[in-house]
Amino acid sequence: MNLMRIDILTLFPAMFFGPLQESLLKRAQQRGLLEIYLHQLRDYAWDRHQMTDDIPYGGGEGMVMKPEPVFRAVKAILGKDEGQVILLTPQGRTFDQQMAQELAPLSRVVFICGHYGGFDERIREGLQPLEMSIGDYVLTGGELAAMVIIDAVARWVPGVLGTQESAELDSHVGGLLEGPAYTRPVTYAGMTAPEVLRSGNHAAIARWRRDQALRRTWQRRPDLLEQATLDDKDRKTLAELGD
Ligand code: ADE
Repeated sequence: MNLMRIDILTLFPAMFFGPLQESLLKRAQQRGLLEIYLHQLRDYAWDRHQMTDDIPYGGGEGMVMKPEPVFRAVKAILGKDEGQVILLTPQGRTFDQQMAQELAPLSRVVFICGHYGGFDERIREGLQPLEMSIGDYVLTGGELAAMVIIDAVARWVPGVLGTQESAELDSHVGGLLEGPAYTRPVTYAGMTAPEVLRSGNHAAIARWRRDQALRRTWQRRPDLLEQATLDDKDRKTLAELGD
């Protein structure tokens, strides 16, 4: 069984309490598919004031995360074990669906969440972490970014999603957005669910869904089509959209 252990190093462990204890992440932990441990960075700051940040050399705005508590904590958390250390920073590689799928098979991941004006550069030099961003904007800290990444990665840990919730058909898997979905009733407020979805013809349903996914991607995210894997039928559908 693929068990993933996640350790989170943060000054604000309470920020994680809600998101990790609801829904899929809660169920995954209860079933033993995912283990998540929170660590208070301040516990590894051994000076009298338990300082985890300090003023920058050379002057300037903001405080810088001190190296010693981070190194001590990572050493204590991993011991002799191997693990992928991830540093959350707007300077990192932008997280996407492909990275979520790449991280899911790992057995140990340590997230380092920073606050204030960034990390002392020796944290990067010494730990050689994978630096990750969740987008081109600045958050108050890495905590929300870590939660986003953990949520997206957990969906790819085998067994976390039930059979009802297939990850394979989601938007961004296979490089396309998902097309429209319908459920009962057949007609609501004069709007009727497409006949083909109610036909029982599985091949026709699959083709319709594929065409709708192509259409939606073409309308909303044409940039994604350049990377998507397309066959001749897909290209015909797209050519017709362009006419
Ligand atoms: N910390 C602050 N902003 C961030 C971002 N966009 N992604 C990851 N970590 C961050």
